[in-house]
Amino acid sequence: MTHPTDIRAFLDRPLTIGGRIVENRLFLAPMAGFTHVAFRQLVDEFGGCGLLFTEMCSAKALPSENSAVSQVFRWRTAELPRLVCQIFGAEPETMAAAARRVEAEGFFGVDINFGCSVAAICKQHAGAALLKTPEKAVAIVRAVREAVCLPVFVKFRTGWTDDPDSAVELARRFEDAGADALVFHPRVSPDRRSRPPKWAYIGRVKRAVDIPVFGNGEVFDAGDVSRMFSDTGCDGISIGRIALARPWVFAEWTGGFFPDAGIYHQGAHRMLDLLVCHYEPVVAIRRFKKWAVFFTAGFKYGHRFSAVIRTAKDIAGMKEAIDEVFGCCQEMTARPNMNLFR
Ligand SMILES: Cc1cc2nc3c(=O)[nH]c(=O)nc-3n(C[C@H](O)[C@H](O)[C@H](O)COP(=O)(O)O)c2cc1C
Repeated sequence: MTHPTDIRAFLDRPLTIGGRIVENRLFLAPMAGFTHVAFRQLVDEFGGCGLLFTEMCSAKALPSENSAVSQVFRWRTAELPRLVCQIFGAEPETMAAAARRVEAEGFFGVDINFGCSVAAICKQHAGAALLKTPEKAVAIVRAVREAVCLPVFVKFRTGWTDDPDSAVELARRFEDAGADALVFHPRVSPDRRSRPPKWAYIGRVKRAVDIPVFGNGEVFDAGDVSRMFSDTGCDGISIGRIALARPWVFAEWTGGFFPDAGIYHQGAHRMLDLLVCHYEPVVAIRRFKKWAVFFTAGFKYGHRFSAVIRTAKDIAGMKEAIDEVFGCCQEMTARPNMNLFR
């Protein structure tokens, strides 16, 4: 089994993206409903994350979005130098206007979402739906590139059929259109997260372009980190669900942080405090409950724990539930429970 100190040789290397330096090669992936300002602060407090990605933000809404009231387009000034705003939309001009706002606010970069395959997004012909019309996807990348100087990321999947050749071709076209980095999730769009991602395709995308390529998909432990780097030659890794389950994982893998037995108890309380600090109580409770399902996925009795948390009705009740669930030592599993991790 790979020890975290071994993977630091891969992860703790700076990288230049679009002329800007990133401290290390491990990113927090964008996750709607989860990578909000409170969760990102929790990750930041543990440390070790190269770049943080926001939840996906609607490009249509962004130019006039009020960040004081928006649920998703909200940030802390301190995180801006490492924060990438993900946008989704269907039209090049709309995406360009959103990217201008992202740049004006001082984010590190903007990320174009061609990965989301949920019906509500695809119906708008946004997210992964754009992989069906490569011309339009490329036009969006070009329009965003022309609109801003900050680093432009493109997040995409294999496509709608299991055809790595077209993913490779598309990667080249995104690079030609001016993308500064690619984040590739090697699954077909109809398969949200049920079958294993095909990491070999990440290697093919990486070899086809000169810009940095970040691999994504089911990197859950240090052994996975090491295998993804060595099997694909990728420049870095974007992690999603394991960061929800272990917000300190960046610090563990890049900084040699060794969590103790009380970390879940402490982490859960801190998450709740941060949610309360950034959101109305009702939103804080709702977001905490959603997160708790992933946070308990590494526990042997995770199902039972998230059920206890679901019953809490207010902040005081939630604090009691946290003490009940995390206040004593719990048995962990080697890998997260995939039923809780979908
Ligand atoms: C709850 C949830 C929400 C997600 N929302 C987004 C999103 O808004 N934008 C996006 O590009 N990907 C989104 N994803 C996909 C993740 O960024 C990532 O590609 C996927 O979870 C695979 O990585 P993982 O195995 O490390 O979790 C989401 C995934 C999850 C689990």
